Amino acid sequence: MAVTIKSEREIELMRESCRLLAIVHKEMEEKIRPGMSTQDIDTLGDNLIRKLGCVPNCKNYNGYPASICVSVNDEVVHGIPTKKRILQEGDIVSLDAGLIYKGYHSDAARTHGVGQISPEAQKLIDVTRESFFAGIKMAKAGNRLYDISNAIDAYVKPYGFGIVRDLVGHGIGTHLHEDPQIPNFAQKRRGIRLQAGMTLAVEPMINLGRPDVEWLNDNWTVVTEDGSLSAHYENTILITDGEPEILTLY
Ligand code: MF3
Ligand code: CO
Repeated sequence: MAVTIKSEREIELMRESCRLLAIVHKEMEEKIRPGMSTQDIDTLGDNLIRKLGCVPNCKNYNGYPASICVSVNDEVVHGIPTKKRILQEGDIVSLDAGLIYKGYHSDAARTHGVGQISPEAQKLIDVTRESFFAGIKMAKAGNRLYDISNAIDAYVKPYGFGIVRDLVGHGIGTHLHEDPQIPNFAQKRRGIRLQAGMTLAVEPMINLGRPDVEWLNDNWTVVTEDGSLSAHYENTILITDGEPEILTLY
């Protein structure tokens, strides 16, 4: 799927898709508490998305069975919600969600603490979010794609956390996953030149321990190989000639 430059009309549709997704994330965040199942979160998110007149873009994506990807503790991404997995005080939970509004996709992820969490878990969540903002400082027309990747890597490096290498960010528009792929670690090459009108999902996934991940037998859930905690932070952004617009912020 090629790199696309969105027209002014398409950008308006992307903005609205992303604005609605921000509402969904906000409402899910407010409801998270110990004792909830991961399926409760999926039900909540699915209902909200449909109430807004949209369609969840995860549901049935390559056979993925739910509307919200819910990943707990050492689960990096694409955890499958179930009524058996109950959130406990001290857990961290990553919610990755997207929706389709008038044919246009949005995509965003957040990691939340459940009740009181450890200082190291909070640090991981904070550094992951901050690395996104460090990365997108470079996200403007005329810069190169991997300026974003290099900036995320440089931001995370001093903390000694593991940057996941097997999963990447992506272009987004009339398809959930469009070119280009956006790595979150330093690259030797410079990548494509960024142009105004590109919409990109930038999504660092950071582990407290080693960067290595593996896939569970459900063929979806990605976990850290060393069992360490993992955090995820993603927004859909619009490239402009100046600062990027972050479309999925509430
Ligand atoms: N939202 C995810 C992303 O960031 C994709 C989820 S695909 C699913 O690209 F099938 F796992 F839902
Ligand atoms: Co994404």
